[in-house]
Amino acid sequence: MVDIIERKRDGHPLTREEISFFVKGYVDETIPDYQASALAMAIYFRGMDEREIADLTDLMMHSGKTIDLSSIQGLKVDKHSTGGVGDKTSLVVGPLVAACGAKVAKMSGRGLGHTGGTLDKMESVPGMRIGLTDKEFKDQVSRIGLAIAGQTGEIDPADKKLYALRDVTGTIESVPLIASSIMSKKLASGSDCILLDVKFGSGAFMKTFEAAKELAQTMVKIGDLLHRDTRAILTDMDQPLGLAVGNSLEVKEAIATLKGHGPKDLVELARKAGGIMLEQAHIVASAEEGEKRIQEAIDNGSGFEKLCALFEAQGGDVSYIREPERFPVAKHIVEIVAEESGYVRRIDSLSIGVSAMKLGAGREKMSDTIDMSAGILLKKKVGDRVEKGEVLALCHTNKEGVDEVLREVHDAFQLSATPITVPPIVHAYIR
Ligand code: URA
Repeated sequence: MVDIIERKRDGHPLTREEISFFVKGYVDETIPDYQASALAMAIYFRGMDEREIADLTDLMMHSGKTIDLSSIQGLKVDKHSTGGVGDKTSLVVGPLVAACGAKVAKMSGRGLGHTGGTLDKMESVPGMRIGLTDKEFKDQVSRIGLAIAGQTGEIDPADKKLYALRDVTGTIESVPLIASSIMSKKLASGSDCILLDVKFGSGAFMKTFEAAKELAQTMVKIGDLLHRDTRAILTDMDQPLGLAVGNSLEVKEAIATLKGHGPKDLVELARKAGGIMLEQAHIVASAEEGEKRIQEAIDNGSGFEKLCALFEAQGGDVSYIREPERFPVAKHIVEIVAEESGYVRRIDSLSIGVSAMKLGAGREKMSDTIDMSAGILLKKKVGDRVEKGEVLALCHTNKEGVDEVLREVHDAFQLSATPITVPPIVHAYIR
C-alpha cells in the first residue's frame, strides 16, 4: 500500500491490480484509514486518467452486491441528481416517464446539510416504505413501471467507507473520487440507462458550470467504458428549484406539477429530463418527441395517477396525494418581506437550504430527526419584480426563536435595480 500511495503521490497512473488491492483491502480492513486517506489526498492532487477512474468505479461497484434487473422486461432507466435545494425532480419525472411506458428502477438517498433527499420527502406521507427487498423492488418495477427505494447496506460498501473517510479528510471535491462514488452506486443498482442531473451554482457541489461540466463528462465517459447508456444534463442551482423547499412542501409541489400547476423551471426540467429518459428507454426516437410525450402525461393526468400508484405500492397513504391539504401544516408561517423594490437577481440556494434545515426541514448530522412540515415557500423567483413591502417567501416552522434564520432568508434574496434576464434551467446536454 505504501508503494501505491507513493506512485500516485509522484503522479503515476495506478494499474487495475493496484486499484483492486486498495479497494479490496480497504473493505476487508487490512488497509487502515490513514493509508486510505493518504491515497485519497494523493488522488485529490494528482487526479486519475479515464482508465483509472473506470477501473476504480468498476471495482467499487463489485465491492458488494449488484442488483440484476434482467428479469424485468424492457430497458430500465434511472436518474441521479448530484443534489440541490428544492430538488423534487425525481418525484415528478419518475412517474411521468413510467406513465409513458418506461421502467424506472430508482435507488435514492437521504438529505444531509442544505440538500434534501428523495427518501425523506417520500416519508412525509404516512406509511410510506422505502426499505424494499430486492424481490419487492423488481416486482414493483415490473408491475407498475416505477419503484423508488433506499439503497441497502450491501451495495457498494467501498463507497460507504471511502465517502465517510473523504468527508473528514478534505478529499470530497475531487472529480475522480466523486465520479467513481456516484457511478459505482448507480451501476450497482442495475439500470441499463442513467441520466445524471449535474447541478452547478451556490446550492450545488460544483460551484461553476466548468467544474460541473468536467464532472458530467467524466461520468458519461465512465458509463460508456462500462457499457451503460449514460447521459448528463447540467442544470442551474443558483436559485432553488421550483418554489418549495422542505419535505411535505416539496411533495405538495410535485403533486401540483403533475396536475399541471407546476413552477416554470421544474416543469421545464421535468420535460427535458423525461424526454431524454424516454429516448434512452427506446420509447421514442428523439428527446424532442419524448418532451411532447411528457407534456401529454402531465395534461392527461397519467403522471399523477402513476405517483398515486407509487405511494400505494409502497404502503403510503394515497389520500394525502389525492387531498394534499391533509399534510400537517407548521405552527408558524412567517412572511419575509422585501425592504426595498427591484428585480430579483439571485436567490442564494445554499443560504435557503441551510435556513430550511435550521427551521427543522433537514439534518445537520445523519442521526438528526426531520420536521416534515418545516421549510420555505418562495413567493418570488429570479427575474420577478418586487415592490417594497411585498412578500418574498414564507417560512414554515414549529420552532421558536428563529429570528436570525428569518433574517438569513431575507438576505438570500439579492435585488437589482434593472430587469434581469432569466437563465434557462438546463444549460447543457452531454451524451
Ligand atoms: N455524491 C456521492 O454519492 N458521492 C460523492 O463523492 C459526491 C456526491
